[in-house]
Amino acid sequence: MDTKTIDQLLDRFEKTGVVGEGNSRVKLVVNRLVRDLMLAIEDLDITPEEFWSGLNYFAEAGRNGELGLIAPGIGLEHFLDLRMDEAEARAGLKGGTPRTIEGPLYVAGAPVAQGEARLDDGQTAGEVVVMQGVVRGTDGQPVAGATVEVWHANDKGNYSYFDTTQSAFNLRRTIVADAQGRYKFRSVMPVGYSCPPGGATDRLLQQLGRHGHRPAHIHFFVSAPGHRKLTTQINIENDPHLWDDFAFGTREGLVPKVYTNNDRAAMNALNVDKPFYEIQFDFTLHADQVRAPATDFARTRAAA
Ligand SMILES: [Fe+2]
Repeated sequence: MDTKTIDQLLDRFEKTGVVGEGNSRVKLVVNRLVRDLMLAIEDLDITPEEFWSGLNYFAEAGRNGELGLIAPGIGLEHFLDLRMDEAEARAGLKGGTPRTIEGPLYVAGAPVAQGEARLDDGQTAGEVVVMQGVVRGTDGQPVAGATVEVWHANDKGNYSYFDTTQSAFNLRRTIVADAQGRYKFRSVMPVGYSCPPGGATDRLLQQLGRHGHRPAHIHFFVSAPGHRKLTTQINIENDPHLWDDFAFGTREGLVPKVYTNNDRAAMNALNVDKPFYEIQFDFTLHADQVRAPATDFARTRAAA
């Protein structure tokens, strides 16, 4: 079918069954996506079998909660980050900690701690890591009372809540930075993980000839009144997949040095009997900017 015929068909569709104004934005977006899909079906000669296979694929992915994993896996979540970077640059924003994908595994409602926290429940295997730093504005001034929400996987690559064998909010906290903008937490080192084997994302990636591995990382939301919310992650250096993340989350500026602390007094202070890891990482937030799109946007998220 040629493009002119497709456009005539779409014009007829849009004028059929009309009972009201509807939502102009939804109409614009849906009509565009339907047209693009029709053009793709035409150009690629997508067969009915392929079409229904695709439709049922998304239905299954939705039932199994994997759409939030497919979006980063095909690069769309990173694409949205890059578009936000461009919008901020156009609005004149410079510097600031790089953003990167949120992913689908945040859970709202984590316990709140003042200044510092222990993220693990004391029953979680893994090597001890202490991470700390300062939240600043782009003017270099500390942001007193900034909120640092942190979440990460355990030593098997699983997240509490989604992994029901872990205690509630294990490896998840909301830390309120002190008057000098400082935050600090103790936890156990996360490891990288993969898409659920045999799941919708995994099967898609296999068809694309790609793997579904993520390097070890720690997620953050950093926010404060008068500032743009930062969604980011830090990566643990030396992970074999550091620059080969299926979700495209690794970015320059988000791979801090990981130090090993083997000082006996420091170990005693943490009540550990072997050296532990230390990470120093400061976050830099942009001040509110009405000319750039909001970074604190609504998205359906788990809550416990
Ligand atoms: Fe993650």
